[in-house]
Order: sequence, then structure tokens, then C-alpha cells
Amino acid sequence: MTGEGSGRPRLGGERIPPPEWFRRQATVSDPDVYDAFESEWPDCWRRAGDLLSWDDDPETVFRGGETPPFEWFPDGRLNASYNCVDRHLDERKNQRALVWEGPLGDSRSYTYLELHREVNEFAAALRDLGVGEDDVVTLYLPMVPELPVAMLACARLGAIHNVVFAGFSADALAERMARADSAYLVTCDGYYRRGDAIAQKNKADNARLALDHDVEVVVLDHLGQGVHLGPGYHDYGDLVADHAGAEVDPVARDAADSLFRIYTSGTTGEPRGVTHTTGGYLAHVAWTARSVLDIRPEDTHWCSADIGWITGHSYIVYGPLALGTTTVLYGGTADHPEKDRLWKLVDRHAVDVFYTAPTAIRAFMKWGKEHPARHDLSSLRLLGTVGEPIDEPTWRWYREHIGGGECPVVDTWWQTETGAILVSTLPGVDPMKPGSAGRPLPGIGAAVVDAGGEPVDPGESGELVLTRPWPGMPRALANGTGWGARDGRRTAADADSSDSVAPSESPDAGPWRYHPEDGAVADAEGYLTFLGRIDEAVNVAGRRFSTMELESTIVGVEGVAEAAVVGADDESTGTAIYAYVAPERDAPEADLRQRIRDAVEDAIGAVAIPAAVVFTPDLPKTRSGKVMRRLLRAVANDEDLGDTSALRNPEILGELRSRTHDK
Ligand code: WT7
Repeated sequence: MTGEGSGRPRLGGERIPPPEWFRRQATVSDPDVYDAFESEWPDCWRRAGDLLSWDDDPETVFRGGETPPFEWFPDGRLNASYNCVDRHLDERKNQRALVWEGPLGDSRSYTYLELHREVNEFAAALRDLGVGEDDVVTLYLPMVPELPVAMLACARLGAIHNVVFAGFSADALAERMARADSAYLVTCDGYYRRGDAIAQKNKADNARLALDHDVEVVVLDHLGQGVHLGPGYHDYGDLVADHAGAEVDPVARDAADSLFRIYTSGTTGEPRGVTHTTGGYLAHVAWTARSVLDIRPEDTHWCSADIGWITGHSYIVYGPLALGTTTVLYGGTADHPEKDRLWKLVDRHAVDVFYTAPTAIRAFMKWGKEHPARHDLSSLRLLGTVGEPIDEPTWRWYREHIGGGECPVVDTWWQTETGAILVSTLPGVDPMKPGSAGRPLPGIGAAVVDAGGEPVDPGESGELVLTRPWPGMPRALANGTGWGARDGRRTAADADSSDSVAPSESPDAGPWRYHPEDGAVADAEGYLTFLGRIDEAVNVAGRRFSTMELESTIVGVEGVAEAAVVGADDESTGTAIYAYVAPERDAPEADLRQRIRDAVEDAIGAVAIPAAVVFTPDLPKTRSGKVMRRLLRAVANDEDLGDTSALRNPEILGELRSRTHDK
């Protein structure tokens, strides 16, 4: 992987131009957009700011030098709830803003006018509970319409929402509330997941007991069975009824004021909090929802993520609603009650744009193409993926069986920290290359560098760095507090990234950079193929192999559903490659192990042949679906597992340990 012969990423594969029918209607189709952004930087970002309605129009797009502080739209003032709701009333008050599909086949929708009413009433209720500007309101709700309503109600008041994924435990909730110093909590009685009732309020009660400050709790009676409310508790329905018809003026916020706080999904050690801004963030998500996801008001957009993660914040709630489109909120799972559930909903709602994760697509592949084939998916115009690299076979299956062989597919790279998409093809401009995400978007500065920070040549792998600030950057990074002021590396102090942590001195004297900590390789046209987290690369006998490349080779072997590769300590080679493989049902294991070894030898070289191939029914995954390689590494090395609270399937760990050590 470092260009020492073996293991070069296979680049220069097929190049698929944007279909002509798509290009003709695309929101962005002029190839000059790249040059225009380049020559006008940073003022180019005015195009993003212009998608919003401002109380005070920003005269300045960007203020800053070579190092933080960086200020986006510094003299602009705006309200995010006004931008996502009120301003659409003139033209589309009767258009649906939200379509909610529940887990049990129940559904509800809200027009922009109805959303306006709900948001205002709940904002009035929160205000009467004492919520004001910059107070942190924790939202511990599953995928119910009241979640985006509550987010927008907070935004209306200038309060900071802190959404905690509903599947997290009481301890995880308490920790995230304590770190955020949050004295308000909105939760619900319970909800259904795969047919099981989850007692959400019990978890919230326990978290409240664990906190040493007072908390006002609002409980939504989602299941409609009545809830017991002690002191400090309020019923959501009663609060809203008491404020029927109330209107709350949207509070004008400085562009740099906080809109929300969120924790990263936690594949590595501690959860990390990130705070996003009102102006830069909203401009960046609106711009990318429009230019990358090609969303316009008349569309129905479905991002299948959970709002508990940044993907849901940016591309279920803020991006689509800022653009005045119809956004789908799905509270169920993809295989319940049947494995064709998503496709039934695409058909029912004539979804135009569908955005999901590669891990979900791999599950669809495993379930079989007959499930999407039963439904009319011809409404789809564009498909997107996010969250991890998408290997070529998965990309092709998605385009063929979901996109009818016609829809462009955008592979979008970004992070909780980046707020919005930074790398992707522009589907109306750029050719697609399966297996590669694309170039950095117009206006985004990025480079692939070696360990010494020097740029590497095309075809050589290295670490991706961002070389310029971008509007959706988090507050602490823009302020230079919490991230190394120059080198943009996370520091120990920013584990919580609150805006008040002291600036850390960086030894680097070079230009400012942000380190996302992802490995990447660029081709001659600047298209980036992502190679996984840099801490997940495996170094065998002095050669670095990307986990991503090994895994895509293994996943390409017939009979393999999923694979994850980690390094285990080895006396002779330093590190030995352990491959954890989930076979498709009924695949013969003995033969499969040999075929995996052969495939790796052919594609990468003998030195990369896994020392162990461990079969497992499932890989350890976070609740957002990311493989926790850290845990596999701990299992392979027989080490302590550390914090496993982000894990969705803890029961798999014992099994993995015994299979690893009896092999
Ligand atoms: C990490 C960020 C951004 C929303 C979801 C995840 C990986 C994300 C891609 C992609 C390759 C990707 C990176 C990144 N990642 N998108 N298209 N190709 N890798 O947010 O939990 O903050 O995770 O996800 O490793 O650093 P997150």
C-alpha cells in the first residue's frame, strides 16, 4: 500500500459519464463550477449562503487568515427554524414537509403549514419551561415526527439541541447530558423495534437519577398508553395543547452561534461531542443537498439514516427542509415485517432520491434482488451512499437493482466533524467511478499526504488532509480551541470539544490542516478512493495494507457476505492479518477459507494472506452500523475490550473470542 509493489489499490476502472437525461435536469450541470469556486474562493461560498434567508444579510462571506479563528458569514444573522419552515409557507404551505412511516405500518404526514404549527407550539412550551438562547436541550427520541419538530423548536428559540441516539443506554445518555450540562430532556414512553417494545422512559428516568443537576423532562406519550409523571416531568401532549395556536418569533442568531451539539458514532474509544454553527452549517448542508443530492422542492427525499447521527441531522432534517422539499422519516427497520419494506415505501411515496449506507446495501444484496424487484422503483432519480467506502460489487448491485441501471450513484465522504458532504462527484457534472468517491467538492481544499505531511503522487496511498476551512466546520475547529490550532488534530482536551477548552499548542509550524484520520489514494484526475481509518491500516513486515482493500477483496469472494480485517501482534512479522468473515448462509467453510486466501494472494500478494480467517455469523457493529474494528483487534490480541457501549450486538463478542482462539 505504500507503493512497495504489492497491494496497490486498483484504480483506473470504469468511468461512467452522468446520464444525459440526468445532466439535463440537474441542479448543477456546469463543469465550470470547479474553476469558478477556485478563482472566487472564499467568496464562492456566497452561493451557499444565498440559498438561505437571513435576518441580516452577510456582507462578508469569510473572515480569517492562515490559522483559526475562521469566521463564516460573520455579519450574517438568521434562524434555522425560519429557514426550514416559515419561509416556505408562501409558496408551499400545503405541500408535505415530513412523511413519517412507523414501525408497525402506521404513518403520518405534516404539510409545511402543519409543521409550522407544531414547531411553534412546542417552542412556546419549551420557552415556558424556561428554555432560552444557548440552553442545551437533550432529545432522546426514536424516529418519530416529534424529533424533528423538537429540533426545529429549539432552533427557533436559539437553544442548542443535543440529540442522543434512542438506542443508547441510560448511562450513555447521562454521560452525554452531563458533558453538555443539559438541564432539559425530551423523551417518550417507549417505541417498537422489530416488534419489541422498548421502555425508553425507564432509561431516561435512570439517566436523570444519575445526574447531579436538576432536569426538566418532557415525555411524549408515543404509544398512547398513558405515562406516570412525577415532579419535574411534563406531558408533551398537554404542553402542546396548552400552547395551541401560539406563535414564537424565530430568534435571530449570529452565523457562528451554536445550532446543535452531537456525538460521533463511536467506533474509536470515547464519544466525542461536536458543536455545529447556525449559518455556516446550514449553508453548507443546503448547498450539498442541492448540488450533490440534487434535491429540489418538488422532490420526495429519503435518507434512511437515524436522526441520532449527523447524517440524519443534515440530510433528513436541515438540508431537505431548508430547500423546501418533502423528507421521509422511517421509524422501522429494513427487514421488518418483510425484507421488501424499504422498496414498498419507495414505491408508495414515489421517492426521488434515496440515500443510505453501504452496510445496508450489503444486507439488501444478501437478502436477494427479488425483494426490490417486486416493486416499482422507477420514481428514483438519484442514489447516494455514506458512512464507509463502498466496494465496486456493492456499488454495481445498488445501481442495477435499486437504480434500474440508470440512476447516478453518489458516494459521499464526510464526517460528524465536517457537518456536511466534502467529497463526492457532482452527479450532473462528473463521471462516476465505482469504488471511488470522487473529487473534493468545489471550494474544498484537500490533499493526500505521507507521514511527514508531504503530498504523495497519484496512485500512492496516504492520509487525507483538508487544507482549507469550509462553512460546515465545527465551532471549536473554527475557533481553534479544542483542535490543534495549526494542525487541526484532535487533542485530548477536546474529547468533549466544548467551545471553552484552551487552545492547544501545536508543534507543527506548517500551514493549517484538518486531519480527518482517513487513508486515501487519489487517481490522476484527483478522484479519491478511501481506504478506511488510518488507525485501521495493518502493517505487516513493514508494508502497510489498507483494511478497506483487503476487505473488498474478501467480500468479492463468492459466499462471503461481510468481512473485517485487523492486525494482531505477531512475533515474526510484527503484525498478522486476521480476517473476520460473515459467510452467506450455507456457504461451505473449508473451501471458502482457501478461496479467500487465494483471492488475497491474487489481488494483493502473498504477504497479505490472512494468518487467520475466522468465520462468524455477524461482525461487531455500532448502532449506526459501523464495524468496530477496535473490538476485533482487542479480540485478536486477547486484550481488554474497553468501552463497548456503542455496540449493537454485544452478544457476538464471546463467540468471537472463542472462535478466534480455537482456530
Ligand atoms: C467516517 C466518519 C458522515 C456521516 C456518517 C458517518 C467514514 C464516511 C465515507 C465514504 C469512505 C467514509 C470515514 C469518516 N466515511 N463516508 N463515502 N467513503 N469512508 O459519520 O460517524 O462521523 O464517521 O466515516 O472513515 O472519517 P461519522
